[in-house]
Amino acid sequence: MGHIHRVVAIDGPAASGKSSVARELARRLGFAYVNSGAIYRAITWDALQKGIDGRDTERIAQTAEAARISCRLQNNESHIVIDDVDPSEHLRDDRVNKNVSRVSSIPRVRKIVVQNMRQYARYNDLVVEGRDIGSVVFPKTPYKFYVDASPEVRLRRRAAEGQRDEIIMRDRADSSRPISPLIVAKDAQIIDTSHLTIEGVVNEIIARLRQIGLSI
Ligand code: DC
Repeated sequence: MGHIHRVVAIDGPAASGKSSVARELARRLGFAYVNSGAIYRAITWDALQKGIDGRDTERIAQTAEAARISCRLQNNESHIVIDDVDPSEHLRDDRVNKNVSRVSSIPRVRKIVVQNMRQYARYNDLVVEGRDIGSVVFPKTPYKFYVDASPEVRLRRRAAEGQRDEIIMRDRADSSRPISPLIVAKDAQIIDTSHLTIEGVVNEIIARLRQIGLSI
């Protein structure tokens, strides 16, 4: 096993501001930004694209295991290519939004994604966003944050993006699944982003990272 680099974990529910915060935080720290949800989305899109029913757990797991999933960094951000296709433009399609919670609850799918994320940490300092980063994927990192916002604010943010996304249903599914559910890791610091700007949240996280000894 190679040297494990520093990892800042950013977990939280849908539309909590995780992605914007994690990307900007990574830029400020000079770390790479890894979006784990995008990998679950890519696997979901690939299976649907191949004509597989979103409820067919067995075939989805088989397809994900057979696919060549290449996770690289591009401009210091995670980028996925799956069976030589770049799914970037499709990751927020309605049908992906609708099926991704179910696909991400399949243990064999989670195994693939977790392996890919740990691989990134062998070569880079990372800011990783997701649902189970501090609790399951990198439980030993001391740098864990749980970002949240009120449901009203989160719904407004998604609507402003012009997206049809049933975030309340997705959160319910993500929080209640038996493996690696969305939880607040016991040693995570909670930040409510409802009334903060992205820069405000990033400043707060950097201040707390310094307090807990990250040299930046
Ligand atoms: O962060 P996002 O909304 O793009 O994530 C899409 C879905 O992927 C989310 O509804 C649940 C799943 N996910 C997960 O199960 N674990 C993660 N670490 C990240 C995302």
